[in-house]
Parts: sequence; C-alpha cells; structure tokens
Amino acid sequence: MTQIAAGLEWTPQASQIAREAGAVLRDFYAQGVETEYKGDADLVTVADRTSEKLIRTRLAEVFPTHGVYGEEGTRDRLDSEYRWYVDPLDGTTNFAHGHPQFCVSMGLEHRPAGAVEGKDGQLVAAVIYDPLRDELYQAERGKGATLNGRTMHVSAIARLANSISATGFPSRKRHESPNVHFYHEFTLRSHGVRRAGSAALDLAYVAAGRLDAFWEFNLNPWDTAAGILLVEEAGGRVSGFSNQPFRIDSREVLASNGLIHGELVSLFEGLFAGRDLAPILTPQQFAASRTKS
Ligand code: IPD
Ligand code: CA
Ligand code: CA
Repeated sequence: MTQIAAGLEWTPQASQIAREAGAVLRDFYAQGVETEYKGDADLVTVADRTSEKLIRTRLAEVFPTHGVYGEEGTRDRLDSEYRWYVDPLDGTTNFAHGHPQFCVSMGLEHRPAGAVEGKDGQLVAAVIYDPLRDELYQAERGKGATLNGRTMHVSAIARLANSISATGFPSRKRHESPNVHFYHEFTLRSHGVRRAGSAALDLAYVAAGRLDAFWEFNLNPWDTAAGILLVEEAGGRVSGFSNQPFRIDSREVLASNGLIHGELVSLFEGLFAGRDLAPILTPQQFAASRTKS
C-alpha cells in the first residue's frame, strides 16, 4: 500500500536534504576517508563534517526560522519553535572501515512558544536515509511512517523468545558499560541480537518490522530523535528501561513492536535486580574444558 504524501508538512523538503547529504556520504565512502579521533574509540571524518555543513545550510534555506542541533557542533537558533536534531552520519565507525551500514538522521521537535530549555517539546517529523540501499524512512506525527513511500509497520512477533533485536555499545567510557550482560541475556532468550553500528538505522528497522526490539544505554538526541518517531508512527513503543516515558534527551532507549514491550521491561527489571542472570563461562573455564576433550 502506498501512503498518500498529501498533507506532509516538513518531510518532503527534509527528505530532499537527507538525500543530498546521503549523496555526499556515498562519494566520500567510494573514495575512502582518513579517520580522526574525538575520543579513544570515537571516530569522526571529513564526511561527518561536510554532511552536517550541507544539512545546516540547506535547512536554513528551506526552514529559515527552524533551529538546528547537530552532532558535529551546529547550535543554530535554539530558541526557535522548531528544532532539528541532526546526525549527519550515524555509523561513522562502519563508514570509516568501509562497512556498509550508516545513514543520515534528522528529527524535528516542536517546542511551543515559552517552552523552557530542558523541557521536551513533541517530535513531529522524522527522516532517515540509508544512501547505500537508497532507503528513505519518513514519518510525521499522526500521519504514519513510510519506507520509500510505502506505509511501514512494526512486526507482529508476540514473544521475546521468537524475536530478533539489536543493540549498540558506546564509543566513550567503554569500561563503564554493563551492556554485554544484557547482550548475553537477550541472546539466550530470543532468536538473537544484532550489533550493526547505527542506532538510527536500528530504530528504523524496528519501525520497518525488520527487528522486533532495540535497546541502548547511552545515546544522544541526534541518534534517536528521528528513529523514535518512526517507531511510534509505525505502531511500536518507545520508553526507558523501566517503562518511564522517553524524553528527547533520554540516554537510554528501549524500542519495540509494542507486543513484547512488557516482557522486555520485566526482563530489564529482573536483570537490574540481579535475578535470572545466566552464568557466562569464563575463557579460563572454557580453556580447561578444551584441554580435557
Ligand atoms: C553511534 C552509532 C552506534 C551506537 C553509538 C553511537 P555515530 O553513532 O549510532 O550504533 O552504538 O552509541 O554513538 O558516532 O556513528 O554517529
Ligand atoms: Ca550517531
Ligand atoms: Ca554521527
């Protein structure tokens, strides 16, 4: 079924900009780029910066009153009623290594006049573009979500045991992340977990029914703003790990098709309480069992 694009306010123009930025990424990807470091494993490239510059310039032309908050430092007109959260290249580590999983992500927040800084507005529009697959994900609040113009829906999987999910690991303060435990538990309790390296695409995949759930511990608004709205408009649910409402600056994200959300929240609750943790064989224990056989 093809959704009628009539009545879409922001995504037609934003999609055009995301496509232009995506073309820039495709060119750099074909040439290969040098890697620079923002942190010990936090990478950035000329492609991230060039894409953000293009998006910033084009948004100012098309929506001159809108604010822009970009990962690579753009902080324009942040007192505006509308604010774009921009990740000009989500999946930089993949990109820098020639691994074909990355995207452009743009989410629009509406902040009614008088809204206090730090208090959420409402996410109203989302565009994610995967330039290598030429896949464009779009949503506007109350108008559904589409993938290349066709209505998309979350999956119908009703049990964690039959699900496939995704997660990601931080590139900063890596020693402080507990996520490997959650990765292990989800792996044992489901059909498996993917770690593809682009949180925005992971969320878009939940919206498209290609994944049943996604969680991550330490994300930023530019990673999540667009993907959250895609999931909600495709019929899914997004919250924190304890089922608290998701906020635009929430670091933790739990997104699902909605049907397994309760089960996921219970799982997080149990694991945080130290219940039901399956022991992981240590490399030493495994080595001992190897030498015996
Ligand atoms: C990263 C990716 C990755 C996630 C990291 C993010 P970047 O964004 O989304 O999947 O695990 O937490 O920082 O740095 O490629 O824009
Ligand atoms: Ca990102
Ligand atoms: Ca990025």
